[in-house]
Amino acid sequence: MDARDRLILALDVPSVAAAAAMVERLGDAVLFYKIGYQLAFAGGIPFAETLIRANKQVFLDLKLHDIGNTVAKGVESVARLGATFLTVHAYPQTMHAAVDARAGSSLRILAVTVLTSYDDADLAAAGYDFTVPELVAERAAQARDIGVDGLVCSAEEALNLRNNVVTPGMVLVTPGIRPAGAASGDQKRVMTPAAAIGAGANHLVIGRPILEAPDPKAAAEAIVAEIAAAGG
Ligand code: C5P
Repeated sequence: MDARDRLILALDVPSVAAAAAMVERLGDAVLFYKIGYQLAFAGGIPFAETLIRANKQVFLDLKLHDIGNTVAKGVESVARLGATFLTVHAYPQTMHAAVDARAGSSLRILAVTVLTSYDDADLAAAGYDFTVPELVAERAAQARDIGVDGLVCSAEEALNLRNNVVTPGMVLVTPGIRPAGAASGDQKRVMTPAAAIGAGANHLVIGRPILEAPDPKAAAEAIVAEIAAAGG
């Protein structure tokens, strides 16, 4: 895989106009874009179709979770858009429905095991009798057994998941990446692009280090060069 295909730019901007301006600025430096709640609910779905028509890949980070039938119908619609990745929460019913509904399309389902803002106390408050690492491992194994295409995980989790849980064909997509010297923002556990690739991540989701750079295109190109140098 080309190193450029490993970088996914988190298009965390408030409007389609801002997104289109950033995509224009980045040009060929970025081939893969993630659209989350902020942009998705501000015209981001039609914009995703525009990106796909322009030969970009799109990751819709919608973290679906509902009854199986509703998840399946939503996944079928996302598959028709031509998106590459879609996130769902790693509940067995939801994962089964999503995997069945994406059959025959090029859409790949990524499961979110445990949100990284959750600690053990948050899990206890939500009624779970698991620590975060236990629940991550349990849900990752369920995702594997159900045939989910990949996981969103922190770079810290990637090495263990890659070595001990997921099949070699499963994709690990890792946020919380900061090039050496970049501000970490609200990310508490960060890794460099090279370290994340070394830990077994296939794709890196990166937002602010590129969006807020004085020259976003140069920042993206530097990250791609670091991924390539790390053997990605
Ligand atoms: O700006 P930054 O590089 O921190 O953006 C990271 C992106 O990855 C954001 O879109 C954020 O929502 C997403 N993300 C994350 N941590 C997770 C899962 C997703 O930062 N555990």
